[in-house]
Amino acid sequence: MHRIDIIAGARPNFMKIGPIVLAIEKHNATVEKKIEYRLIHTGQHYDKKMSEDFFTQLNIPEPQLNLGVGSGTAATQTANIMLRYEEAVKDWKPELCIVVGDVTSTMACAIVAKKEWIKVAHVEGGIRSGDEMMPEEINRMVTDSITDYFFTTTALANTNLGALGHGEEKIFFVGNTMIDSLLGNMERLIQPPLWNEYDLENKGYLVMTLHRPSNVDGYENLRQLLSLINDNVGDKKVVFPMHPRTKKMFDQFGIAFEKLIVTGPMSYLEFIYMIKHSAGVVTDSGGITEETTVLNVPCMTLRNSTERPETVTMGTNVIVGTDPNNIVPYLEKLIAGDWKSGSIPDLWDGKTADRIVEMVAQL
Ligand code: UD1
Repeated sequence: MHRIDIIAGARPNFMKIGPIVLAIEKHNATVEKKIEYRLIHTGQHYDKKMSEDFFTQLNIPEPQLNLGVGSGTAATQTANIMLRYEEAVKDWKPELCIVVGDVTSTMACAIVAKKEWIKVAHVEGGIRSGDEMMPEEINRMVTDSITDYFFTTTALANTNLGALGHGEEKIFFVGNTMIDSLLGNMERLIQPPLWNEYDLENKGYLVMTLHRPSNVDGYENLRQLLSLINDNVGDKKVVFPMHPRTKKMFDQFGIAFEKLIVTGPMSYLEFIYMIKHSAGVVTDSGGITEETTVLNVPCMTLRNSTERPETVTMGTNVIVGTDPNNIVPYLEKLIAGDWKSGSIPDLWDGKTADRIVEMVAQL
């Protein structure tokens, strides 16, 4: 395939598409038959800190097109992305549409492409949490059901896809492009200004990220969770870069939590710096559990399931659940220095995007 669209919409997409775009440029520099591509930003995430900064830091070229959909309910975002992407494929008809991950933009563009007879490639296809209460699980199920080529991150994703009846000829186990970004930027990490501002030390703090509705949309639940964390981290601080959704709720508390250092969303290179030097991470994200696994940093997931079970079976992650009380024994273990050490899943080696691009060129 030599005429492709690459879709990016929300923060966790950017570190996954960056390496693919760079690998295409590298490929094109060495071959005669070049891959023509358009990088399309749906505009699902639009704040400088949630979007633009990632492009700058990861050297991702400016998107050719921004669909500018902005915020809204899931249906509003999906509908607007579909309307605008449909328009965008009319004149420049790609042979292949590459979508990544599990966000609203992933599903919406996959549906449009398929109906326009454009082949769909899903990077990170085949993973499942089994929790259909999460919008991301629905996005995964819908996207995978119409995907022509799967680029998978783990052997288990291949097994899941096989069980769903997808033939082996459609499935390529290539590894994890998010880990390409991680490993490719280890020498470029940036210490954020709050490090000196709060006298932080290596392993002297935890990093926390929360944005799932189940954790942040309930006032009492979030307040109790933050109190328990505040009271059970010993002499460590907790750096809490807040997602806009979480900030809306947090601002209603009007309470100061002594150990929490609250800040806005961090840029990629600063965030990874903070994770790498932390004593541990508390999160409800999926992607971060892969980064902590590779960096061998203890991680507690405040969810009841994960679509990335390797981070638990092989990596440093534990599933804590969503009951705030559950976290206390895990914090005690962490503070006591009693955490499992992990290993890294196959092919999370920093070369995944090259593998994807070579295969795309041959398809
Ligand atoms: C989305 C993804 C989720 C991912 C998360 C990472 C879906 C279904 N979910 O969730 O998988 O882990 O991104 O951030 O796609 N907002 C801003 N500025 C922005 C973007 C959003 O203020 O640049 C606000 C919106 O107004 C809205 C809230 O954040 O109130 C949620 O944004 P949305 O994109 O709908 O979903 P996320 O919760 O970010």
